[in-house]
Amino acid sequence: MMRLRQTLASLAALLLITPGLSPALAQGNAEAGKTIYNQHCASCHGKGLVGGNAQSMLDGVWQFGAGRGDLVRNIKFGIAANGMPDYKDTLSNRQINQVVGYILAAEKQAAPPKPPLPKKLLTRDYDVDVTVVAEGLEVPWALTFIDNDTALLTERAGRLRLLKDGELHPDAIADTPAVFAAGQGGLMDVAIDPDYADNGWVYLAYSHALPGEGNNRPAMTRVVRGQIKDHAWTDEQVVFEAPHDTYISSLYHYGSRLAFDPEGHLYITIGDRGKQDDAQDLTKPNGKTHRVNRDGTIPKDNPFADHDNALPSIYTLGNRNAQGLATHPKTGGLWSSEHGPMGGDEINLIKPGVNYGWPVITYGINYNGKPVSDLQAKEGLAQPMHYWTPSIAVCGIDFVQGDHFPRWQNNLFVTALSHQELRRMNIQDGRVIYQEVILKNAGRVRDIASAPDGTVYVVLNQPGTVLKLTNGGPVLRQ
Ligand code: HEC
Repeated sequence: MMRLRQTLASLAALLLITPGLSPALAQGNAEAGKTIYNQHCASCHGKGLVGGNAQSMLDGVWQFGAGRGDLVRNIKFGIAANGMPDYKDTLSNRQINQVVGYILAAEKQAAPPKPPLPKKLLTRDYDVDVTVVAEGLEVPWALTFIDNDTALLTERAGRLRLLKDGELHPDAIADTPAVFAAGQGGLMDVAIDPDYADNGWVYLAYSHALPGEGNNRPAMTRVVRGQIKDHAWTDEQVVFEAPHDTYISSLYHYGSRLAFDPEGHLYITIGDRGKQDDAQDLTKPNGKTHRVNRDGTIPKDNPFADHDNALPSIYTLGNRNAQGLATHPKTGGLWSSEHGPMGGDEINLIKPGVNYGWPVITYGINYNGKPVSDLQAKEGLAQPMHYWTPSIAVCGIDFVQGDHFPRWQNNLFVTALSHQELRRMNIQDGRVIYQEVILKNAGRVRDIASAPDGTVYVVLNQPGTVLKLTNGGPVLRQ
C-alpha cells in the first residue's frame, strides 16, 4: 500500500510538469505560473502579458521560436543580445515549465489571429510581391527546378510532387522508394542531374532503414537516382549507400542535402545521427559531406580515397547536421548551412579534406545548458564563414541567379525554421559582408529555390506552403 501511494505521488509529481493531463493540476500549475510571471517577468513583458517594453506574449508572434521547447530554452538561457535575462539560476525547470504553461494557456485563450501571409515585403532593394503557389503540403522539404515552368517538391512523409505551370499536380509521382518516415527522417532532398535535359536523372536523398519492425531499426541516409516517366519513378539506381554495420538506431540528424559542382560530382550531407563523436571518425558515414560520381562510383581524387579504413566517399568531416547545400554560380564554391545545438548554427565553405570541428570546437551549447566544448577554435579545424548564436535553426540555402532581382544576384539566401526567416546574405571574396531578413514570422522556412527566371520560391514547413517572390519594383533611395 505504501508502495502504491509512493508510486501515485511520484506519478502526480510527473503530471505537474506534463501539460493538459488533469484540469485540476493544470489549473494549479497555471496559478503557480502566473505568480512566477508577475514576480519575474511582468516588469518587462507587462502585467497582463502585454503592454511592457519587451515583446507581447499574446500576439501570436514568437521571434525566437514558438514551440514549448523554444520558450523553455529562451527563458532558461535568455537571449542576451536582445536583453532577455536568463533564469537558469533563478527558476527551477518545473517553475519554468509552469510559467510557459501559463503563457501558452493565456495565448490560447486570447486566440490571436494567425498573422496572415504577407502579400508584400518591403526589403532594402525591392518591393516584393508574394503569391502562394502551393498549399496543403505535409512537411514539404525541398524544391528544385527542372525548367522555368516545372519543379519537383518533396514531402518528408515520402511523396515526390510535381509543380507545373504554377499548379501542384494532385497525385504524387508513383513508385518512389519507400522511406523510413519517422522523427526527422523521411524523404529529404531532390536534385536534378546537371545534364538532365539529355539523361533525365533525378536524385533523391532519404532515410533508409534495415528490414524489421518499428522505429528502433538501424537507419542511415541513402541516395538513389531514377527517371520520371508517365508520372512514375523508374530505372532506379543506388548512388550512395553506407555499409549496413554503420547504420544507427536514431530518428534524427540525417542531413540531407544534395548539390553538384561544376565538374558534375555529387555532394551529399549526412548529419551526425545523434552520435557526435562519429563526426570525427573516418570509418563512419555520419557527420560528413560525401562526394561521389553521378553513377555512384568514387572519384579518384577524393581526399580520403587512399586513407586506411576511411570511407572513400568522405569529402569533409566534423559536420553536425548540414541542412543546406548550394554551389556558387560564379566561383563554383560549395556552401553549406549546418545546425548547431543551441547556438552555433553555421555557414561553411566546403573544401576537400577539411575538418569543420564538430564536436571538438563549436559556438553551441547543449540543450542541458552545458557548453558542448570549451573550445571555439583549434589549429587544424576550420572556422565557419558565419555563425548564429542563439541558433536560428538554419535550413535550406540557395544562390539567387538571373536578372529578375538584379541586386540580389549571387547572394546566398538562407532559411530558418525556429526563427521563421528568409535571410539574404551578401558574400564578397568568401566573406559575409551584409545580411538582411527578407521574410519573418510567416512560418517555419524549410527551403528556398532560385527559379531559372530569377524569381524566388520559399518552402514553408507548416502549414505546408510554397510562396513565390516576384519583383514589385525597386525601392527608390533618397
Ligand atoms: C529585463 C527585462 C526582461 C525580463 C525581466 C524578462 N524578459 Fe523576456 N524578453 C525581454 C526582451 C528584451 C526580449 C526580446 C524581445 C525582442 O527582442 O523583441 C525577451 C524575450 C522573451 C521571449 C521570447 C519572445 C519571442 O518573441 O520569441 C520569451 C518567451 C520571454 N522573453 C519570456 C520571459 C519570461 C517568462 C520572463 C520571466 C521569467 C521574462 N521573459 C523576463 C526582456 C525581459
